[in-house]
Parts: sequence; C-alpha cells; structure tokens
Amino acid sequence: MEYKITSYNERETANIAENIEAEKFPNMVICLTGDLGSGKTVFVKAFASALGIKEDITSPTFNIIKEYHDAELPLYHMDVYRLEDTREDIGIEDYFEKSGVTIIEWADMIKDKLPEERLEIKFRIIDENTRVLVLVPYGKVYEDICGVIA
Ligand SMILES: Nc1ncnc2c1ncn2[C@@H]1O[C@H](COP(=O)(O)OP(=O)(O)O)[C@@H](O)[C@H]1O
Ligand SMILES: [Mg+2]
Repeated sequence: MEYKITSYNERETANIAENIEAEKFPNMVICLTGDLGSGKTVFVKAFASALGIKEDITSPTFNIIKEYHDAELPLYHMDVYRLEDTREDIGIEDYFEKSGVTIIEWADMIKDKLPEERLEIKFRIIDENTRVLVLVPYGKVYEDICGVIA
C-alpha cells in the first residue's frame, strides 16, 4: 500500500509531519528520500517541533547524526548523504534499537542497514512550491500511522 499526498507549500508539508503522533511509537523509524530541495529537512523540523524539541534543527550533513534530548522522547536526526566519505563505522543500526525516534534523510543510501519495519516517505518535486509525498509503510504500526495521516 502507498499513500500519495500532494503538498502545495512548505506549511502543508509541515502539517503532514506534525500529524504523525510519534510519542505513541517510541521506537519509530522514518526514512526520507528525494532530491536536494525536495523538503526533507522542512519535514524534519516540523516533526521535531511537534515532538516538543525547542532546539533549532540544523542539517547534520557533516556529523551525519545529531541527537536531541530536550523533549520527552529523544530524536535522532541523520543525514547519511556523506556516509560513504566516512571511514569509521558510526553504528547506525544501534540507533534503531534505542528508545527514541529516528528520522533519516537520504535513507536510500543505506538501504541494507534499514530496519524491516519503518515508514518510508519519498519526496518528489513537481514545481517550485508543489511536492508529492509518497508514504510507504512497512509493518502494522506504520500502516496505522498512514491510515491516520493520509
Ligand atoms: N510544498 C513544499 N514542501 C516543502 N518545501 C517546499 C515546498 N515548496 C517549496 N519548498 C521549499 O523547498 C525547500 C526544501 O528544502 P529542504 O527541506 O532543505 O530540502 P531537502 O532537505 O530535501 O534537501 C525549502 O526552501 C522550502 O521552502
Ligand atoms: Mg536536508
């Protein structure tokens, strides 16, 4: 099952992110894919602020993982675009076991490391302000989430 949602501006993309009730799923993993400028970070910022994170979310491109611990649930924000440049094993899989929410930009770069159960969201650029988000749930929990937001 796939759920397609058209977003006509940045706010609409933020609304979709805010509608995910992450506090109900303390181990959730969300995988974002899509070209540069398609809205992945816009989504993460809105998602984080809905979780209660006050800190400004900045792209962790050079550190790959940034952790936010100022809300009820920890948030692990990854941008794995440059992972191939890093020689060290940064233990991405360990994060999927931790209590907390993991959200990954460019998740298709680490396909073989992703957990079986997850929510994938593909961002497609249609024009300057229009994006299509394709939500693909893997697992019952994620099916339910999509049922609520899509
Ligand atoms: N419908 C939309 N949804 C999300 N972002 C949009 C939309 N329309 C325009 N934008 C703009 O597209 C850009 C998306 O940037 P960003 O979220 O950093 O992309 P990514 O992280 O995928 O590289 C922002 O400048 C945002 O204002
Ligand atoms: Mg980004």
